[in-house]
Amino acid sequence: MSTQFTNESLSSLTADWLVLALVESAPLSASITELDQALGGLISRLIESEDFTGKAGTTTTLLGITEIKTPRILLVGLGTAESLSLGSLEKAMTTAARSISSKPKTNIIVALPEVENNVLSAEQLATVTSTSMIVGAVGQDLYRAEAAHSPFQTITIAGTGDTAASQQAVDRGRILGESINLAREMVNRHAGDIFPVSFADRVVEIAKLTGLEAEILDEKQLKQEKMGSMLAVAQGSDQPPRLAILKYQGADASAPTLALVGKGVTFDSGGLSLKPSDGMKTMKCDMGGAAAVLGAMHAIAQLKLPVNVIGYMGLVENMINGSSYKLGDVLTARNGKTIEVLNTDAEGRLVLADVLALAVDRGASNLIDLATLTGACVVALGEEVTGVFANNADWSKAVQDAAQASGEDVWEMPMFPQFAEQLKSDVADLKNVGTRWGGAITAAKFLENFVSETPWVHLDIAGPAFAAANAPHREGGGTGCMVKTLVEVAARYGSA
Ligand code: BES
Ligand code: MN
Ligand code: ZN
Repeated sequence: MSTQFTNESLSSLTADWLVLALVESAPLSASITELDQALGGLISRLIESEDFTGKAGTTTTLLGITEIKTPRILLVGLGTAESLSLGSLEKAMTTAARSISSKPKTNIIVALPEVENNVLSAEQLATVTSTSMIVGAVGQDLYRAEAAHSPFQTITIAGTGDTAASQQAVDRGRILGESINLAREMVNRHAGDIFPVSFADRVVEIAKLTGLEAEILDEKQLKQEKMGSMLAVAQGSDQPPRLAILKYQGADASAPTLALVGKGVTFDSGGLSLKPSDGMKTMKCDMGGAAAVLGAMHAIAQLKLPVNVIGYMGLVENMINGSSYKLGDVLTARNGKTIEVLNTDAEGRLVLADVLALAVDRGASNLIDLATLTGACVVALGEEVTGVFANNADWSKAVQDAAQASGEDVWEMPMFPQFAEQLKSDVADLKNVGTRWGGAITAAKFLENFVSETPWVHLDIAGPAFAAANAPHREGGGTGCMVKTLVEVAARYGSA
């Protein structure tokens, strides 16, 4: 797939589709006015007759156009200029991409909206547009004979901005879009396809493609590293665990290291604390944290950000066999803390405990972990919002600011010490579950035991990592959530 920026007039370009995103109740921009004239005033007549109003998310298709070199036009509404945000622009653009991506090998032109008194810079507009065309055109077609959507062959983004800066913004958007799609694909592949070893193989493949350094720890090495908590979860599966590590060095060895840690439970049956069928149906998504880390590393390497980042993906399958870990088991984590297991379905925190401790031991200056960790977080914040938990206010703010600049919704949850009370065990240093109440917070308080004093942010993505159903702006399945935010954190980390 190629993406390019052009300054040429809309009526002079050739493609299969021309996408025009129009602001509600705003005069047409100069470039659209010129196009409108070439079309004999068609667009202004549609607006005049209120057949197209520019209302957010609406689309109108114009076919059989002969006056210009593009036979099809898609009009998509952006809503009013005041209401336009990164999020609403992305929704409009992915809606457009979804609705014109049914045929393979389609070439498209997208006119960058010229939004007056906007809150978005020209570069942000170009980046979001490029990302959205790449994400919106890919669906859940991995296992279908006939794909419902196909990626565009070429995406030409037309605008009036500075060519070099706009081309850079468009390229950045393409890299983000492809990295989000990589994370989505990993989540969308079923658990027979993606298990710890095959996930690790894919990590090695991505490392080769992008020039990252990969290190894969197998069971024996995990034992040597004293990862007793993570290994206990893996015990009940025929699939051996792996820890996949991706290293990117874009700055001096003396510069601080950002560590990204992802929960990679390739399938979560619940173990002996077995999930009911309904709760288990989507549990191929339980490696969404690891997929976000992989996607982010894929982007960071291609963007050549001037920072040092290490991605850790803790890969296990939570299953049942004769060797399964059991309720009442006492595990010893890498940092020496003992954990009484009272629910084998609270497995994500057991995996993260050891991987976080390893990341600290290997010299992380700042930590972010991502995990589809608790149903309680979905109860608290709904399906679209990521929960933020931290041991350091400045680092938390840095991550939240990056999320906001990326158009991803996050919300901080409290970390009051009384929640840790729930994790006191009669027989060990900790137990792995608290009471019913505040379950997302007790999970975070559990993790806090494994990060030492390192500034750490935990992102609970149990809601946003996986979309239950298709929507006009988004295919169901893996969403690739937090890839953009992580890349933005890394970009700012480099310039701090
Ligand atoms: N992977 C689940 C959490 C989850 C739930 C992710 C829904 C995505 C959607 C996690 O391992 C889990 O089972 N958590 C338990 C914790 C409980 C046993 C303390 C939960 O949320 O019920
Ligand atoms: Mn579980
Ligand atoms: Zn889980």
